[in-house]
Amino acid sequence: MTTRSKFVLLVFAFMFAGNLVLSHSYERPPARKTVSVPLAEDADSTSPQQVQFLLLQIFLWILYNTGDVWYHGEASFGHGQLALMNATQALWAWHRNQDDEEVVGHLVWLTNLSFDPACKVHISMVGPDKMRISWITEDDVTPIVKYGTSSGNYESSATGTTSSYSYLWYESGKIHDVVIGPLNPDTTYYYVCGPDSTQEFSFKTTPSQLPIKFAIVGDLGQTGWTKSTLEHISASNYDMLLLPGDLSYADFFQPRWDSFGRLVEPLTSYRPWMVTQGNHEIERMPLVHDEPFTAYNARWHMPFKESGSESNLYYSFEGRVYKNQKNNCGPIYITIGDGGNREGLADKYDEPQIPISVFREASFGHGQLQVMNATHALWTWHRNQDDVAVAADSVWLTNLSIDPACKV
Ligand SMILES: [Fe+2]
Repeated sequence: MTTRSKFVLLVFAFMFAGNLVLSHSYERPPARKTVSVPLAEDADSTSPQQVQFLLLQIFLWILYNTGDVWYHGEASFGHGQLALMNATQALWAWHRNQDDEEVVGHLVWLTNLSFDPACKVHISMVGPDKMRISWITEDDVTPIVKYGTSSGNYESSATGTTSSYSYLWYESGKIHDVVIGPLNPDTTYYYVCGPDSTQEFSFKTTPSQLPIKFAIVGDLGQTGWTKSTLEHISASNYDMLLLPGDLSYADFFQPRWDSFGRLVEPLTSYRPWMVTQGNHEIERMPLVHDEPFTAYNARWHMPFKESGSESNLYYSFEGRVYKNQKNNCGPIYITIGDGGNREGLADKYDEPQIPISVFREASFGHGQLQVMNATHALWTWHRNQDDVAVAADSVWLTNLSIDPACKV
């Protein structure tokens, strides 16, 4: 299909879908001081502050996908704060009067165009002793990672592959993917990405013995709540992060994948993040871009080949199947989201609450799973409105092997 016919189709598509996609510009609910605030107040999809001009939206959408343009339309009384973080990055935060001061109505990282050091670095485990390093550059560079166990001294190196993708008019940067190792467990490694980079990152490998601590968060997004969630997570001293779907909320706007990469880089370059896809990763547009998960598959390579899978959308884990009845030997399901999604809190539940559903609450936050030893693990859930040390919910999980009735 020619670019011109893509454009015509796109305009028609947006006559129907544009308003739906773009009207969610009011990104977050008001801050909740306590959980006694009625959940209904978090519903934000009908905010009167949305910009609803369809033609303006189409124009901005095209502008947005043809360059690294970020926009946000909302009419509220308030003020902005521009924090110059360093020579290359600044953080713009806009604050509404109806929110508490610490609540950010809209957040965006701004990058000095002359030099973008934020390469959207993220790392993920590959088997027990290897790590995949992924990063993005504007220009072609050799996909090489140099690394070692002391800062500034990179005695090892590995090379990998480079790829890119197109999405309508958007052309991604060069996505580099290098697997390094074997690595020692529970060890800090220092590394640089690319042949000429001097920007050093570091990460710690997971321990080879228990205990191990996982941070778990879904629906992460890139709102003010995301910033709060990331701050809580980074204070938790976790070994590995699990993200079960809905990462950037790019929702067809490809530069949002780049801004998301910049936002999470301090954490994703520092600890392995293992992710899976959610519905917000699909980004399929019938006739115009038929392939689903294009950006996700290009940017977030998980160890599917190493686990015998043919698709990046699936990598292995094992579990006991639960057959729709309470069973002490069945798995425990923990449904977690609301890390910072721009749609607001998911506050719809089946009523009445069925007995096997033991706890449910809509708040932004994250979970932690600490596997203490071979028989016991502790799940805790942490709201953003609390200090990270406060657990809003917790449960001890025991290994089925210590219950003779559950022997398989
Ligand atoms: Fe979700």
